Amino acid sequence: MSPLLPGKKDVLGVDLGTSKVKVLELKTSGSRISVVNYAEEDISGKVITEKSPEERQQIYIEALRKCLKKRKFGTKNAAVSVSGSSVIVRFVKFPKMNSEDLEKTLQFEAEPHIPFDIQDVDMDTQIIGDVEDEDQVKMETVLVASKKETIREKIEILEKSGLKPAVIDVDAFALENAYEMVNGAQEADSGMSMIVNIGASVTNISIVEGGISKVVRDLYTAGNSFTRALKNSLQLDTAKAEEIKKKYGLSGGSQDGSAEGSGDISAQAYSAMYPVMRELNSEMQRSIDYFTGQQSAQGIEIKNIIISGGGAAMKSLPELIYADLSIPVEVFRPLGKASLSDKSIQIDLASPAFAVAAGLSLRKIGDNK
Ligand SMILES: Nc1ncnc2c1ncn2[C@@H]1O[C@H](COP(=O)(O)OP(=O)(O)OP(=O)(O)O)[C@@H](O)[C@H]1O
Ligand SMILES: [Mg+2]
Repeated sequence: MSPLLPGKKDVLGVDLGTSKVKVLELKTSGSRISVVNYAEEDISGKVITEKSPEERQQIYIEALRKCLKKRKFGTKNAAVSVSGSSVIVRFVKFPKMNSEDLEKTLQFEAEPHIPFDIQDVDMDTQIIGDVEDEDQVKMETVLVASKKETIREKIEILEKSGLKPAVIDVDAFALENAYEMVNGAQEADSGMSMIVNIGASVTNISIVEGGISKVVRDLYTAGNSFTRALKNSLQLDTAKAEEIKKKYGLSGGSQDGSAEGSGDISAQAYSAMYPVMRELNSEMQRSIDYFTGQQSAQGIEIKNIIISGGGAAMKSLPELIYADLSIPVEVFRPLGKASLSDKSIQIDLASPAFAVAAGLSLRKIGDNK
């Protein structure tokens, strides 16, 4: 969306997740990051994925208002993001043209790439650069299409909670932004990385090079899938399954799916969740194969896998991803080196769950990905 105010200004990162609403205010000076304020509301008990749009909106407004009441934030300007099935990101090659012409031909050229009625979507493109395609120089663009409905829903949630919508982002781009800010553009520039953000109901996968996405996918194997597997195998209620998942994670087994030491609860948890972990790994592998199968990516290797989101806190997950994919795995803790500007802020700075919120709160008014 277009900037509401001229100039660069700070925004709140508002992450409307399906298990938690997170509101984060950051300040950066050079490479130093300071948490100015933070509040969250747990909405995991509301099973938001099964609610009607109206109910869902109401739950978010209520949770967001509570967050804003808990702490006094320094601005009303907010950045939110969209992800999941209502947004698609495609990398499309067009014949060379200027951005004005691109704008004009977009509707027409983009239509085959969009699985929704083109009347119902908001579209945006950015030119990434030149690529060689069938002996022709074309320009590579990233095309983002999101259902108007979804964007309107997010804007309304912010407005009805007393905030001003300043930036509408995509989860995958917010993640890249956080990674680049925290690790520095140089580090982010050196080779290809895969960022895997494991939330409660969605896992965002993107392959990035030099801060630019090359592949973006969302899948529905995520934190809740692990909880569900535990619940079903061990006949537990959701709360107990969540507790066991967080306590033992995948620490109770060997790497071939057999549980070490029979009968023990951590081994049972491991056996129950093992298929979900394998599914997640094979989806990651599929994204890599898709990317490296492209002509323009021949010979390119993914140098590391960066996992984030609450699901990245799962015990032994990094080792088990490495065992399947043989690519070094790193847990991304965007606020790991951040300081608190006020000791009364309740936040676990070591958590990987802040990746989207951090990426959003590092945006400025006028940023428009
Ligand atoms: N220590 C832990 N071990 C395993 N899983 C964890 C741990 N801590 C949190 N999780 C899981 O992380 C998930 C929540 O992550 P996150 O806060 O990133 O989700 P969200 O943004 O609310 O959801 P989504 O982005 O999918 O809408 C939950 O499934 C939760 O059980
Ligand atoms: Mg999330």
